[in-house]
Amino acid sequence: MGEIGEFVDYFRDRFTKLSDMLRNRNVSFRPIESMSRRTTGLAEGREEVSLIGMVSDIQTSKNGHRMIEIEDTTGTFRTMVLKKNKDLFDQAMKVMLDEVVGLTGTLSDDGNLLFINNIMWPEIPVRNSIELGEPGSTGLAVLISDIHIGSDTFLEHEWLKFLDWLNGGTNNENIGSVNVGDIKYLIVAGDLVDGIGIYPDQERELAILDVYDQYCKAAEYFNQVPEHIKVIISPGNHDVVRQAEPQPALPDKIKKMFRTDVVFVGNPAVVSMDGVHTLIYHGRSIDDLIGALPGMKYEDPAKPMIEMLKRRHLSPIYGSKVSIAPERTDHLVINKIPDILHCGHVHTVGCTNYRGVRIVNSGTWQSQTEFQRRMNLQPIPARAAVVNLGSRDTKIISFQ
Ligand SMILES: [Fe+2]
Repeated sequence: MGEIGEFVDYFRDRFTKLSDMLRNRNVSFRPIESMSRRTTGLAEGREEVSLIGMVSDIQTSKNGHRMIEIEDTTGTFRTMVLKKNKDLFDQAMKVMLDEVVGLTGTLSDDGNLLFINNIMWPEIPVRNSIELGEPGSTGLAVLISDIHIGSDTFLEHEWLKFLDWLNGGTNNENIGSVNVGDIKYLIVAGDLVDGIGIYPDQERELAILDVYDQYCKAAEYFNQVPEHIKVIISPGNHDVVRQAEPQPALPDKIKKMFRTDVVFVGNPAVVSMDGVHTLIYHGRSIDDLIGALPGMKYEDPAKPMIEMLKRRHLSPIYGSKVSIAPERTDHLVINKIPDILHCGHVHTVGCTNYRGVRIVNSGTWQSQTEFQRRMNLQPIPARAAVVNLGSRDTKIISFQ
């Protein structure tokens, strides 16, 4: 648990970075403090006012209007979206606590309330092909996640088929009609193993009871990946690192079990695959986004990933399922726009393109667990996403 001062620094950093992105628009935003020095809205002839703030409270009024309170470093202000403005109201339903938004509107007669007529998110700009750059890279990258080695629902048969395919095994050479010799990278977006003590009575569902034995087994598998493929491993909430995000890379004791050329990164992590800027994030916040936003569901994990990009933040809601370490800088802000955003965590597959960013959620290598059965969640296991680093075209290949 961090000191209060560290949380203040953390939120200040989040606010500064995200508000700077909003300030790139052609809108003149005012500090909230200046609102108290002004005369009433009526006296100023109802001119438009724009504010940037971190969302500190959201309520629905008894008449069904959406009340959004925002905060900047100088004060707080109440704003409202009227129910009758259907499209805007739908957008207001997507505003979440702790995110940073820009709001334009007109003031109430007493000057204490802003009636919103436009909501702005930090967003990814729409870019043309010149701005997106030439596809300079060649080769393929394979994206996977949530292998859960050590679980009794880990799909070893399918996993061995995958390893054989990577090795150009003749039994599986036609899978996905991919030239496996072109594969240059293999990325794991967390949950390499099932771990221990992650949820109550987990030991009843484990095939390997010791977490180090689970990693030993993982190392044995990954050491079979052909040496021309660069393996990059990022942790998830089942791995043996702190749960609070950002998570560090796996510890040395585990790294030593693997071939020396395997690269261990934190969660989130940014890697460059031949110049293709790739943001790897396990994706625990997808639970929060699905819970908070209308129209989101586990079957379609690409949608909440688009919301991360719109908000330029991997985990916009603070203090829900994701615990965030109070570091001085917010490492979950999406500073540089990635070429690829790769997540896992939800055990379902999603693949789409958003404003030039290739979005992939790579599913799992574990069949339905007891917990998922109770929650009625249907996993999509034994999949690998194969991304062409030049065109970013992506194929989802099944090993089932
Ligand atoms: Fe997982």
